[in-house]
Amino acid sequence: MKNKKNMELPPRPKLFDFHGVSMTNYFTDNWDNVQNFQARPDDILIATYPKAGTTWVSYILDLLYFVQTAPERQRPIFEKNLPNRVEVLDNLTTSPRLIKTHLPVQLLPKSFWEQNCRIVYVARNAKDNAVSYFHFDRMNQAEPEPGDWNNYLQRFMDGKMVFGSWYDHVTGWWEKKQTHSKILYLFYEDMVEDTGRELDRLCSFLGLSPSAEEKEMVKGGVQFDIMKKNSMANYSTNPVMDFKISPFMRKGKVGDWKNHFTVAQSEQFDEDYKKKMENTQLRFRTTI
Ligand code: A3P
Repeated sequence: MKNKKNMELPPRPKLFDFHGVSMTNYFTDNWDNVQNFQARPDDILIATYPKAGTTWVSYILDLLYFVQTAPERQRPIFEKNLPNRVEVLDNLTTSPRLIKTHLPVQLLPKSFWEQNCRIVYVARNAKDNAVSYFHFDRMNQAEPEPGDWNNYLQRFMDGKMVFGSWYDHVTGWWEKKQTHSKILYLFYEDMVEDTGRELDRLCSFLGLSPSAEEKEMVKGGVQFDIMKKNSMANYSTNPVMDFKISPFMRKGKVGDWKNHFTVAQSEQFDEDYKKKMENTQLRFRTTI
């Protein structure tokens, strides 16, 4: 298979069990270095389940911290081995380092806890997250073959996704937040509802006091339609993504699941969801 630049693409990776979490080799090949990563006290970690709004929050932080200097953008998540992100981060002299991860809480390298780094977690409601992940997997050759939507949804419910179960991910980080004061737990739906309000929460958590003008600039720059056109944020140069199948910045909406789930799928999902989420206080405002 070739991409639009006629480059030969690698075959799609396979999922395998890695410490109880489904993964592909892209995220495990560099594991010893990832686990031994040396965090710094002023590092800021952006942690998410894939497709929960990682790029959005990451870009907000870029604008808040580096608006004048235009740093490296679109940083891959740090556990990815293409290229070796750990090495790139080790050599980075700008501060703070903004680091993205999709790791479930139990697999995070211990130095982030030892250094007491600030962590911004973003969660997105399960149904929209599943839909967004499906379209991402369709267009991204570096993801396992998604198959059809019905089977994909079952896989999502079974937790057989890259980075494992959505249910374990969002609840694992939520439980950690109860005992760790340096985690800010944001919801994608809140950010869509009022980006300015969530920006204020973010700034207060990070100890930043941007002027009203700076805040407006950030808010304006991170609107969906603006980011969609921005090659720093829309992944348009990524060689393994096929934008003819789906754009990376796809819809940016809450509730798009209604265009994908049948009534039967939704009912089955809801029933399963209640069972999986019955022991947590974590509540999403949409769906169930
Ligand atoms: P959709 O596929 O539902 O459109 P991630 O960065 O974690 O991969 O998440 C990608 C999802 O976040 C995509 O969702 C993308 O459109 C959405 N997104 C990115 N920037 C956004 C923005 N500024 N406003 C709303 N949604 C945004």
